[in-house]
Amino acid sequence: MSETRAIIPGTFDPVTSGHVDIIERTRSLYDEIVVAVALSPEKGGGTTFTLDERVRLLERATEKLSGVEIRPFDTLLVDFAREVGARVIVKGLRAVSDFEREFQMAQLNHGLEDDIETMFIMAIPDYAYLSSSAVKEIARHGGPVEGLVPEAVRTAVVERLHPGR
Ligand code: PNS
Repeated sequence: MSETRAIIPGTFDPVTSGHVDIIERTRSLYDEIVVAVALSPEKGGGTTFTLDERVRLLERATEKLSGVEIRPFDTLLVDFAREVGARVIVKGLRAVSDFEREFQMAQLNHGLEDDIETMFIMAIPDYAYLSSSAVKEIARHGGPVEGLVPEAVRTAVVERLHPGR
């Protein structure tokens, strides 16, 4: 498995500017990045955007970056990491409130596959409280989401959650 390839997993419903920042910063450390888009969120329930839509929005958001591939997956993350030849899982970490869930996932993944490491990149202050849910909440009430998501995503979010605006 490659030391130069990292995998960045998530639901990305939809991708935010915070995600893009983590992808760019990870790309500056690794030659190849696989952004792994999970079919369904961890806690079940539905997503606002289909898997195909989430993949396409990520493709548009990262189109200027070389060495970044967007791939859907519906297996254990460690199995998918192995399939794409990545030994490193990279996740963004925002406020302290993220820590417990991320720590748990990292422990579980380590228990499943101990030669795959999880590494964390801290969110920059601008994005420390930004989440896909917050973006959707703002958009649903007709608030501005400029800057919180890439432009292509902004259009898609407004069309889906606040049509006619
Ligand atoms: O965007 P999220 O909610 O942080 O993403 C969570 C995700 C998709 C990374 C996580 O749910 C996941 O890895 N799912 C794949 C199934 C799996 O491997 N579960 C065991 C480890 S938690």
